[in-house]
Amino acid sequence: MESFVYQMPTKFVFGEGRETEAGKYVKEFGGTKVLLHYGGQSAEKSGLLDRVGASLEKEGLTYIRLGGVKPNPKSPLIYEGIRICREEKVDFILAVGGGSVIDSAKAIGLGVVNEDDIWEYYSKKKEPKGMLPVGVVLTIAAAGSEGSNGSVVSFEREDGVYKRDCGGEFMRPKFSILNPALTETLPPYQTACGIVDMMAHVLERYFTNTSDVELTDNLAEAIMKTIIAEAPKVMENPEDYQARANLMWAGTFAHNDLCGMDRGQDWASHNLEHELSALYDCAHGAGLAVVMPAWMEYVTEHNVMRMARFAVNVFGCHMDFADPENTARAGIKALRSFWTSLGMPRTLEELGGKKEDIPTLLRMLEIEGRTLGDYVELNGEDCENIYKML
Ligand code: NZQ
Ligand code: ZN
Repeated sequence: MESFVYQMPTKFVFGEGRETEAGKYVKEFGGTKVLLHYGGQSAEKSGLLDRVGASLEKEGLTYIRLGGVKPNPKSPLIYEGIRICREEKVDFILAVGGGSVIDSAKAIGLGVVNEDDIWEYYSKKKEPKGMLPVGVVLTIAAAGSEGSNGSVVSFEREDGVYKRDCGGEFMRPKFSILNPALTETLPPYQTACGIVDMMAHVLERYFTNTSDVELTDNLAEAIMKTIIAEAPKVMENPEDYQARANLMWAGTFAHNDLCGMDRGQDWASHNLEHELSALYDCAHGAGLAVVMPAWMEYVTEHNVMRMARFAVNVFGCHMDFADPENTARAGIKALRSFWTSLGMPRTLEELGGKKEDIPTLLRMLEIEGRTLGDYVELNGEDCENIYKML
């Protein structure tokens, strides 16, 4: 086990109807003037925005609405948000939505507090020093940004769309309100994308070279087994509150780093995927459903017993002691079948991509002269090989 410091400063407020307490928590964390940030239609149509707005007014808080965040949040709206916050002296950002809205809110918060263009931070040229406080009312169990220390944004630049992440402990939200009932209106495809993403967040940590991490390995397996058990219930009955609740909590724990702080983590699959959602604007979870099993096949040999353990402990595959690789392969097959059973794509073509784009994907990945991943360090040729497998 590696040495670590673990602090989870976000306050989680869980349960039905709790979004009506948003104003109380904004006040608790010092907000007086709020940017209420949200996405396209869903939060407006369901009446959620009005309920949250009323809770802010009840606490005597003033707020400005800024909607229109698109999936794979785009930089122009973020720059607009930064301008509004500066002009209006906003001191708190409340994100009502999923990963895209939360990440957009975090990016605005970075832009307001730091001097440089936020591109400098997302392109890792400079380190941000802080962020305006952000609170969350979560509407989809997926990205885990409600508890994570990161934000992922698509920057539209002259030579293409760069989807890049920025991280820092100060980027965890002050509070996150998790009402599972809010996720009942999700289209099945989005529910499924979220299920893939949260599982991938555990897997990026599960495949590690660090040994003697039994407690967190067992936690990781418990989270994955919970996801596998609850997913079919919500696909069958979108209004199954208890299953939605289990998935929502699993999604938060999948990515608040509880399962990762004691070990080396990989993240190559996420990096490979981000180029797909940048180029094709596909859902991040759908991209992962295609990339992650291919990555697992590509790296199986690195530690066959690790992959076999996943197969046995998570999917209940039979352990073939004579040929553990057989078991490892059965685990990858089970994962792929689970994700496709939810309606997720299997190939690049199903995502809307094509093999001719691989040189573009590699160029945007900026892989030359560096490697991706920690479990197995992938060079440019490895990345190309994996893209060719999709
Ligand atoms: O815009 P609206 O109308 O709200 O529609 C959204 C959107 O189209 C819809 N939706 C959300 N809640 C809904 C709903 N529709 C009906 N009812 C509801 N309750 O769902 C669609 C997808 O929303 P989005 O926020 O994009 O989904 P998700 O939470 O999966 O976020 C994906 C983004 O997060 C990034 C991804 O790369 C992607 O850009 N990630 C962020 C991470 C982080 N900050 O820690 C880590 C992740 O690995 C990931 O990279
Ligand atoms: Zn993810």
